[in-house]
Amino acid sequence: MAITGLFLCSFLVIHLIGNVALFTDPVQFNEYTRFMSSNPLIRIMEIVLVAGFLTHIIDAIILTKANKAAQPVKYAMDNKKSSWYSRNMGLTGTIILVFLIIHLQSFWYGYKFGDVAMTVDSSGDPIKDMFIMVKAAFSQPWYSAIYVIGMLLLGTHLNHGFQSAFQSIGLRHKKYTPTIQKIGTAFAVAVTLGFISFPIYFYFTQL
Ligand code: HEM
Repeated sequence: MAITGLFLCSFLVIHLIGNVALFTDPVQFNEYTRFMSSNPLIRIMEIVLVAGFLTHIIDAIILTKANKAAQPVKYAMDNKKSSWYSRNMGLTGTIILVFLIIHLQSFWYGYKFGDVAMTVDSSGDPIKDMFIMVKAAFSQPWYSAIYVIGMLLLGTHLNHGFQSAFQSIGLRHKKYTPTIQKIGTAFAVAVTLGFISFPIYFYFTQL
């Protein structure tokens, strides 16, 4: 879980950086999405990504079952010292999965098989206008709201998951663990605010 989780974290960073073109240059964003959906190396990475998601989810189910089997009766006094994030990783993970299905259906499937408007790239050649598709999606309040809620839950999932991954691979140390926790929180906040900025920006600039 730790390795696949950290791999998915690196995907989030790349995805976030790629999406910044939504703010700076629609043509560059369209060229970036074309590159992402046509480059053979990215195609291979896509398979690795799907395998990463599936392994992460299957491991989570196995781990939850093993934990339940090890503790069939709930403690009379639950340990409330553990954070809400750590006690609800299964819940936040499941909601993120639902978010991901909605996201891939509209953007990934929509781009590949949907009726996407055409525009021109920087050389004047025809290209699918993904920028317009993203902009139109975020002009709908309910769709933007799904993203804001999804990203906030992703933030709580990352906040616990990041530092937990380092513990799982054996990096647990009195001196370094607090720093890893702080880096994890900073990472979770940066990713959450970064992704939330897109629906909020497009929603409010189209009012
Ligand atoms: C506001 C935030 C987001 C925007 C605007 C956005 C936009 C897009 C777009 C336009 C695509 C299709 C083109 C491409 O492959 O780049 C895409 C694909 C994808 N997105 Fe997002 N995304 C956002 C957040 C997220 C988050 C938070 C996750 C994960 C939890 C995610 C996971 C994915 C995945 C797995 C794909 C398919 C990647 C592939 O085809 O290689 N996205 N996204």
